[in-house]
Amino acid sequence: MQRIKINLDESEIPRHWYNIQADMPNPLHPPLNPATGKPVSPDDLAPIFPMNLIEQEMSSERWVKIPDEVLEKYLLWRPSPLMRAHSFEKALGTPAKIYFKNEGVSPAGSHKPNSAIPQAYYNKIAGVKRLTTETGAGQWGSALSMACKLFDIALKVYMVRISFEHKPYRKMMMHTWGAECVPSPSKDTQTGRNILELYPDTPGSLGIAISEAIEDAVASKDTKYSLGSVLNFVCLHQTIIGLEAQKQMSIAGENPDVVIGCVGGGSNFAGIAFPYVAEKIAGKNIRILGVEPSACPTMTKGPFIYDHGDSAKMTPLMAMHSLGHNFVPPPLHAGGLRYHGVAPLVSRLLIDKLIEAQSVPQTECYKYALLWARSEGFIPAPETSHAIAAVAREALKAKEEGKEKTILFCWSGHGLLDLSAYDAYLSGKLKDFELSDKEIESTISAIGDLKRPL
Ligand SMILES: Cc1ncc(COP(=O)(O)O)c(C=O)c1O
Repeated sequence: MQRIKINLDESEIPRHWYNIQADMPNPLHPPLNPATGKPVSPDDLAPIFPMNLIEQEMSSERWVKIPDEVLEKYLLWRPSPLMRAHSFEKALGTPAKIYFKNEGVSPAGSHKPNSAIPQAYYNKIAGVKRLTTETGAGQWGSALSMACKLFDIALKVYMVRISFEHKPYRKMMMHTWGAECVPSPSKDTQTGRNILELYPDTPGSLGIAISEAIEDAVASKDTKYSLGSVLNFVCLHQTIIGLEAQKQMSIAGENPDVVIGCVGGGSNFAGIAFPYVAEKIAGKNIRILGVEPSACPTMTKGPFIYDHGDSAKMTPLMAMHSLGHNFVPPPLHAGGLRYHGVAPLVSRLLIDKLIEAQSVPQTECYKYALLWARSEGFIPAPETSHAIAAVAREALKAKEEGKEKTILFCWSGHGLLDLSAYDAYLSGKLKDFELSDKEIESTISAIGDLKRPL
């Protein structure tokens, strides 16, 4: 019988997260305080994050111990299985071996709890009573709702309006775990009210929802803000994915030639990829590929600039690939990939050519997501389908070249609550959006006083 799953025992769960900042050939450009133009200090960030997470954000310690209380919650679903996609390989007729790390087995159905659990824990021990956050597809909002309930913290989620309307079940999950969830832009914040006045029909964006969540956190007592991607500490928490995968791949007797992940803000990609980027920095021949939608081509078309993480310019300026903080992406079905920026860590590695980026149109993603569901059984999240499309491209190239190749990717979540997107695809209603250079130029030039890190 062919082996499909490579499982680790609970006792083999990694005890540390890996911090790529210790090994990067070039350090990150510091985030800047927009008022002073100087690097932000920990005190600048204190109104929105607890000090323990701010320290983690700024740390360059290579191995960061995972607290026992976090490990105990991780064990609810971790170690996650590494699986071999024999049937998808067969359906493609490829000589390539395709392995995937199944992050869809978590209670919320994606990789998001890997950071939601530690963020809730660190806020709890810092005495925080309530968190606010944004969510795109609803995966992060539901993951943090669960984590906050497990650590007894209140939570309000600002959910991008288009997803709020398309995905009522995600909202119900958040309610089930005891959180409050409102569509963004909302009437509950000044930012939301301003945007609604100007654009009453806006589908919303992650940039707007982040502004609302920060405004709420800063204005409320005992409340901090939590972000589901982009930041260094989120990427750090997600490295548990790649660290487990390294152990499981070695049990399988394999070394990946290519490591792939989809990219919204960059956290699941960071999670699977960073431990392998370390191998690449140490001299291993390995390709590492981040995949984004061609409707929101942050890494492939966005310039490397200093920009805000949110629309209302409340966050520090971060050195990253960006389409401009006012960019409102088309109403793509992969809500979690509709973000104007990408993690500074991922951006820096891209500049340094340690990783590559590719964009894929959404109909190609659904074509391969469907092939996946019909061969492997599991229905992937629309975000995950971007990684699957890139895997298919690599596997078909291997077939064309008659080469054996080992591909590893992050199966970042299941799509059981995203079936309206599959319905739209199956009934021929999905279209592709290609962003023109002119459109990008216009959102970038709207930034005004544009700073370039390089
Ligand atoms: C299943 C899934 N995959 C990927 C992403 C993209 O986020 P990130 O780039 O931070 O991994 C999301 C975001 O909501 C998601 O829900």
